[in-house]
Amino acid sequence: MILMKDIIREGNPTLRETAQKVTFPLTQDERQLGKDMMKYLEISQDEDLAAKYHLRAGVGLAAPQVDVSKRIAAVLAPANDGKILFKDILYNPRILRESVKHAALNEGEGCLSVNRNVPGFVVRVDRITLEYFDITGQRHEIKLKDYPAIVVQHELDHLNGVLFYDHISKESPFKLPENTIVIE
Ligand code: NI
Repeated sequence: MILMKDIIREGNPTLRETAQKVTFPLTQDERQLGKDMMKYLEISQDEDLAAKYHLRAGVGLAAPQVDVSKRIAAVLAPANDGKILFKDILYNPRILRESVKHAALNEGEGCLSVNRNVPGFVVRVDRITLEYFDITGQRHEIKLKDYPAIVVQHELDHLNGVLFYDHISKESPFKLPENTIVIE
């Protein structure tokens, strides 16, 4: 089981590396890591279990955050009503197409690897076409928009050594470019 002590924090060089692609068939370790990362997200979103295991709630976790520099990420993006907008373990994910329209979360973003609040809009694209391979090696090509698209972009950034605050303007953190929607 992944606990907070297993998650590395900003300053650790692994978070700034470009992670390596996996090859198929996946190794047992690569499949287990994906499952463990998803289990972290599930438990962390359950109030009682999160309190029991002292987990910070997360909607995404990337392998570099547990010090494994491979292109693996888990995403569990819930809607406000508790429905699940997108849930899967992504192997070798990549964005095939992105919208011209941009989007930013009204609350800004946070990260399990960053123990501080960094205020400001993280401007991303609103819609993506995502390619990824699942735990069985099956290829998927899906369209995502708004919140789950933003979560996926945050996790893909981790695979490229990018942290969310790299996207926040230093001079004007709350200035939104034209053609950007704010997501509540
Ligand atoms: Ni993060």
